[in-house]
Amino acid sequence: MDNPGGDSAHLKSFVLRSGRMTPAQTRSYETGHYLIPYTGEPADFAASFGNNKPVTVEIGFGMGRATAEIAAANPDKNYVGIEVFKAGIGKLIWEAETRGLLNIRIIEHDAVDVVQKMIAPVSAAAFHIFFPDPWPKKRHHKRRLIQKPFAELLASRLCPGAYVYFVSDWEEYAQSALEVFSAVPALTNPHGGFAPPLEWRVQTKFEKKGLDKNHLVREIYMERVKT
Ligand SMILES: C[S@@+](CC[C@H](N)C(=O)[O-])C[C@H]1O[C@@H](n2cnc3c(N)ncnc32)[C@H](O)[C@@H]1O
Repeated sequence: MDNPGGDSAHLKSFVLRSGRMTPAQTRSYETGHYLIPYTGEPADFAASFGNNKPVTVEIGFGMGRATAEIAAANPDKNYVGIEVFKAGIGKLIWEAETRGLLNIRIIEHDAVDVVQKMIAPVSAAAFHIFFPDPWPKKRHHKRRLIQKPFAELLASRLCPGAYVYFVSDWEEYAQSALEVFSAVPALTNPHGGFAPPLEWRVQTKFEKKGLDKNHLVREIYMERVKT
């Protein structure tokens, strides 16, 4: 399928948090720096970054702490963060500007639409999904990001050998995500089940919250098959 994932009438995997912004976050947000507007058309990331470095896409970066750290440590790669939370977007712009990071861009929109419409098939080097909203109540499971159509969509956007890295502290969501990813024919699991933590992964705000409640952190690392 060239465009799995359905149309943009899907149930949203987020509730817009109004969250008070600090003056610095507001100022940074208002600069519009680093933002790629949502167009609904395939994005030309080489033009946005001014180079052809491989592009990792992070979905739901929250306050962007991991995004900025990982981007700073990997200047040979580009990072596109997708988020709808304005305070977090302001924070990541502030962070990127303060640290002089050249390899970050941000799209403020629903990631399901962005991946489907703006990320070309067989183009991404990786997807990072760190601590997505778990939607713990059974009646809300349909809002979870990782369900069959979106997992297939992610796989379709990856280059051969590229990866999806999903981390969650919600055991039942992690189990369900492992099943969903394992059933995508275009993905393979080099670890068989859950993966060991990758040493370069940075602790995020929501990871800290989970650890403070003694939650177990589960990691899933899937690769796009090389055909
Ligand atoms: C639980 S928070 C985790 C944030 C961060 N990754 C962390 O670990 O601290 C999930 C984030 O994903 C964002 N999010 C959820 N669904 C999204 C979607 N469809 N498109 C863009 N962002 C989304 C939410 O706004 C929220 O900031």
